Amino acid sequence: MATLASFSLRNSAVILTLLYGLTFLFSVVSARPATFLQDFKVTWSDSHVKQLDGGRAIQLVLDQNSGCGFASKSKYLFGRVSMKIKLVPGDSAGTVTAFYMNSDTDNIRDELDFEFLGNRSGQPYTVQTNVYVHGKGDKEQRINLWFDPSADFHTYSILWNHHHTVFYVDQVPIRVFKNNEARGIPFPKSQPMGVFSTLWEADDWATRGGLEKINWSKSPFYAYYKDFDIEGCAVPGPANCASNPRNWWEGANYQQLNAVEARRYRWIVHVGKKSYPNKAVLVDIS
Ligand SMILES: *[C@@H]1O[C@H](CO)[C@@H](O)[C@H](O)[C@H]1NC(C)=O
Repeated sequence: MATLASFSLRNSAVILTLLYGLTFLFSVVSARPATFLQDFKVTWSDSHVKQLDGGRAIQLVLDQNSGCGFASKSKYLFGRVSMKIKLVPGDSAGTVTAFYMNSDTDNIRDELDFEFLGNRSGQPYTVQTNVYVHGKGDKEQRINLWFDPSADFHTYSILWNHHHTVFYVDQVPIRVFKNNEARGIPFPKSQPMGVFSTLWEADDWATRGGLEKINWSKSPFYAYYKDFDIEGCAVPGPANCASNPRNWWEGANYQQLNAVEARRYRWIVHVGKKSYPNKAVLVDIS
């Protein structure tokens, strides 16, 4: 009896340890997508952020009273953040929708930016990306999207590991910022970053350098988000998470672009900057 009891006790201890281990695993790298409120909070104008579909999607509003914004509850050190966004349609000139990561550390901040610059009806949306490392930015790059990003949801992701940061539009890498520390170029690796998004008016610079002003008669302006997906090492969290080479985003497949991605990226670099619409070219390379 006594041996049986201690045996089953040992067994349940093993099972408990296993269960604990699994819970731990999933709390670090959890199954997604999540609802908005699981990972995010509104940081600017509650009244302009509306939850839809039981919190699995949101609508951001920009009108003459205010824009709005949200941020992740946690900061993360390495990982991948991804969401589906449907941008402001029609005459969106002067509006900017931003989706970015930021360490929120003033003059030494690290930041990885997507900024979607609206345009007059029928004119191409521009995506501006920027990278700040330890407070130093000035690395803006722009491309015009090869599709209408307001007609449907598209996936925008930032992959961040020890080897590079990659900005993806759907499955197309539009920007790669490599870790070139070996050549003395700083790389973001020590400050955790939060995930942010805002919709606001910036008609002093956004569209054709500020020549095209916002048309308030078309307001309110709406952008939609869904499929919130953050997989990364939350900080605070297990101390050794960020340096764990077994995190999937550090794996061999993510240390550099694969052959298909590299081909798409070459297309972006050489052709994507010029032409719109050019779906035929994208079909050609995939
Ligand atoms: C807006 O459209 C104009 C005209 O096609 C284009 O030159 C510009 O790059 C587009 N984007 C912005 C943000 O001005």
